[in-house]
Amino acid sequence: MPNSEIESRPDEYKVARILLSEKELGDRVNQLGAELAERYRGKQPILVTLLKGGFIFLADLSRAMKIPHEIEFMIVRSYEKDSSSGTVQIIQDLKQNIEGRHVVLVEDIVDTGLTLSYIREHLSIRNPASLTVCSLLDKTEARKIQVPIEMVGFSIPNEFVVGYGLDYDQLYRNLPYLAIIDPEQA
Ligand code: XMP
Ligand code: MG
Repeated sequence: MPNSEIESRPDEYKVARILLSEKELGDRVNQLGAELAERYRGKQPILVTLLKGGFIFLADLSRAMKIPHEIEFMIVRSYEKDSSSGTVQIIQDLKQNIEGRHVVLVEDIVDTGLTLSYIREHLSIRNPASLTVCSLLDKTEARKIQVPIEMVGFSIPNEFVVGYGLDYDQLYRNLPYLAIIDPEQA
């Protein structure tokens, strides 16, 4: 890689506004974890997360959910926002059979709903005992397709957000809070 490219890499993030603080996120995630623990006690559910965006939420939610449960990952790629086809490419599918199992799909954010709608169907046809979607964030105004979301952390305005696992161009995922980036950075 040329030196000029390395030198142009930012050494700090510039955020325009913090939408949800670390404390607000932590408190809500703990509540969701406790709710899930109550709902699934004795059922050993499988938490399925879509990478990469869901990795921090999953890590915190899993630790807040103080009952035995399993973790699985899928890697999906959503096509461009302006596509209304709802086609999602599955790069890595589940490694285990979910038939007869209680599945919790842990999502970072539901925007148009196209990704969730596709993945819900993809999991449902495998006959899990139950399927619950738990999304940290919900941009309701951006919805293009109606899709059920059983548990939502926060409803947020239709703005591009980063942090707490969510990226802009692969950066910002490690911010402990949820932010809107400075448009000059984007
Ligand atoms: P939808 O619901 O539109 O969501 O199929 C597809 C995926 O788009 C990503 N997404 C975002 N990522 N900030 C992000 O960093 C955002 O504001 C945002 N909105 C949508 C996310 O990966 C979601 O799963
Ligand atoms: Mg996602």
